[in-house]
Amino acid sequence: MDTPDESATGRLCLVTGASGYIGGRLVPELLDAGYRVRCMARSARRLRDHPWAGRVEIAEADATDPASTRRALDGVDVAFYLIHAIGGEGRFSETDRRAARTFAEAARDAGVGRLVYLGGMAPEEELSPHLRSRAEVGRIMLDSGVPAVWLRAAVIIGSGSASFEMLRYLTERLPVMVTPRWVRTRIQPIAIRDVLHYLVASAALPAHVSRGFDIGGPDVLTYRDMMQRYAAVAGLRRRLIIPVPVLSPRLSSLWVGAITPVPGRLARPLVESLRNEVICREHDIARYVPPPDEGLAGFEHAVRLALRRVRQADVATRWSSASLPGAPSDPLPTDPDWAGGSLFTDEREREVRAPAERLWEVIEGIGGERGWYSFPLAWSVRGVLDRMVGGVGLRRGRRDPRRLRIGETVDFWRVEEIGPGRLLRLRAEMRLPGLAWLEFRMSERDGRVRYTQRALFHPRGLPGHLYWWTFKPFHDRIFGGMCRGVAHAAEQPTRTSRPRATASAPR
Ligand SMILES: NC(=O)c1ccc[n+]([C@@H]2O[C@H](COP(=O)([O-])OP(=O)(O)OC[C@H]3O[C@@H](n4cnc5c(N)ncnc54)[C@H](OP(=O)(O)O)[C@@H]3O)[C@@H](O)[C@H]2O)c1
Repeated sequence: MDTPDESATGRLCLVTGASGYIGGRLVPELLDAGYRVRCMARSARRLRDHPWAGRVEIAEADATDPASTRRALDGVDVAFYLIHAIGGEGRFSETDRRAARTFAEAARDAGVGRLVYLGGMAPEEELSPHLRSRAEVGRIMLDSGVPAVWLRAAVIIGSGSASFEMLRYLTERLPVMVTPRWVRTRIQPIAIRDVLHYLVASAALPAHVSRGFDIGGPDVLTYRDMMQRYAAVAGLRRRLIIPVPVLSPRLSSLWVGAITPVPGRLARPLVESLRNEVICREHDIARYVPPPDEGLAGFEHAVRLALRRVRQADVATRWSSASLPGAPSDPLPTDPDWAGGSLFTDEREREVRAPAERLWEVIEGIGGERGWYSFPLAWSVRGVLDRMVGGVGLRRGRRDPRRLRIGETVDFWRVEEIGPGRLLRLRAEMRLPGLAWLEFRMSERDGRVRYTQRALFHPRGLPGHLYWWTFKPFHDRIFGGMCRGVAHAAEQPTRTSRPRATASAPR
């Protein structure tokens, strides 16, 4: 086996597309492997929320501009080309050709030792414009005069990947689908974790290796299989999928655009590419790079990894800016808004004219005998309905009327996180077509106390979406009332002030 050169670590890698899905996840892997990293981005601002931003150099450059690209490549040993223009303005194939040529020439002039490009698969049949363009970029890299590796992947499974998000939304939102013929096309998906494994290893391949490699996971599946298996892993019912011959790629991309939040301009080239069968024709990469120790992830495992963060309810990491670097399959705070599945939010904020400690007392004492500070009848009815369908209802109350600990129950919620004087997050344990959280935050600045309340709902399938929209008209009464009620309770002069609602049963 012609294995990667271990002494390669410590070298300088340039990661282009660092604001994108693959690039943003590759950077921490390279750092962990001991490389120094410079990120190239059209706007440095787009990188600043990344957890690794303080550990890398940043070069602002546009790959279609020779001068800035040449500067970004100065002193670079290995350059990763992770750029594409689909979803952008104008004709993507022309832009991609120009960017790839400019970059390849600048890399040669700069004396770069290796290029690594990740593109799509290029089967020997009439290719979609997207795959044709990706293949053209691959040839430009191989012809650049710099030793190049062109990794060819089909659908990449990981939260935030455009093709995975399309699959996720279609499956979650449509229990019954009339689909085009392309749902029968065979595909060999690969987990993002394994793509990163091959990308990192490619940086250290010996200079004489200059060629393309197909990379794929262990499963070959039709798009229909992928939807059914996704549904099973996500806890959804089996989907009814009826392929019909009349739906053209254009019509189906309009339909995908309407059903999913993936922007139409991005969805269309991806949908058009689904007519091409994308299965590895060789597995030569194994001669140079061994598979990961735990083996290549199968489709279900890759989906499970992608859904894990939501399942574990670590909503803070996915949906707010505070973030610790997690597994590659996890969402990043810099992912586009449409990534990570649907998350509905009801957010309320108020200034509270009371000491911070008093507001915290009210927050920590919520539920149980003190109730939920709004619309008591609605909370009681919700509790009864929950019990009728086998849920826990409101009867659990709380252990201590004033103090809470992680893992304790509060009526039909459980304390998921508590940071005294700062944050209380409850996770719903009532019967729901999805996952729900209720979050209370407080902050103090210049003597002013602010109270922020968020209700978060991650729907499961169509029933989840219907549930959210059915109750949306009542949110002002329930969540708005709760926000006002909590603030009001804190603003009462004495500690003996009683909240207005007493919805839950005594323990
Ligand atoms: N995601 C998948 O499922 C998948 C599957 C197979 C292969 N791939 C390949 O993986 C590579 C990366 O894909 P991705 O999913 O990470 O894409 P992505 O999330 O859409 O990111 C594209 C990146 O390209 C950058 N970019 C575009 N035009 C540029 C220019 N002129 N100069 C500098 N930067 C430019 C963008 O930067 P801005 O922030 O400035 O826009 C962005 O960072 C692509 O080659 C793609 O074909 C992806």
